[in-house]
Amino acid sequence: MEVIFLPKSWNVDQILDDLDQHGFAIIDDVYPPEYIHALTEECTSHLTQFRQAAIQNGVMNQIRSDHILWINEDLNIAQHHIESLKQLSQNLNRAFYLGINDIEAHFACYNAGEFYALHRDNPQGKNGRMISTVYYLHAEWQDDWGGQLHLQDKNNHWHIIQPQPNRIAMFQSDLLHEVIKAKHQRLSITAWLRSDQLRL
Ligand code: OGA
Ligand code: MN
Repeated sequence: MEVIFLPKSWNVDQILDDLDQHGFAIIDDVYPPEYIHALTEECTSHLTQFRQAAIQNGVMNQIRSDHILWINEDLNIAQHHIESLKQLSQNLNRAFYLGINDIEAHFACYNAGEFYALHRDNPQGKNGRMISTVYYLHAEWQDDWGGQLHLQDKNNHWHIIQPQPNRIAMFQSDLLHEVIKAKHQRLSITAWLRSDQLRL
């Protein structure tokens, strides 16, 4: 049996503490260069298969205009990222009793001019999404390129999170957030840590 450990750069205690205090956490320097390279290659080689993202009532490009590709077992490199998130989920379950037992993920590509308006990933605790995670995999991002994640934390304070390469932003899926219009191509993996125990 292959045993997979969390990447060493992930400070689990800090992540748990930040989620507990603020409802969100940032991890930087997530993966080594070889893995980032392979993952970016897997993402960009599939870009022609990305589809206009939909929200609950179908495609509505005044709400979001990015394109996505759902991740399945065929995307071998992305699977390692999912595995890391599964390991992290065990820590989250132990600390917060979240009951996370599934991960749902897609690549996302925002081309210049694309955005995602204010929303919650799990508005009334009804869809099983507990924690949202976004890993940024473009090679470079500058502060004036737009594309920031604008997030309201659990104490109602707003934060501007730059989509720095090799960064994970993770937050409670019930928190309000948006993606500001990007000025350059912005590549990411969004993954939701899910529980089947839906709240009523
Ligand atoms: C999402 C989302 C944030 C980001 O995919 O639901 O809010 O920074 N993504 O890409
Ligand atoms: Mn979202």
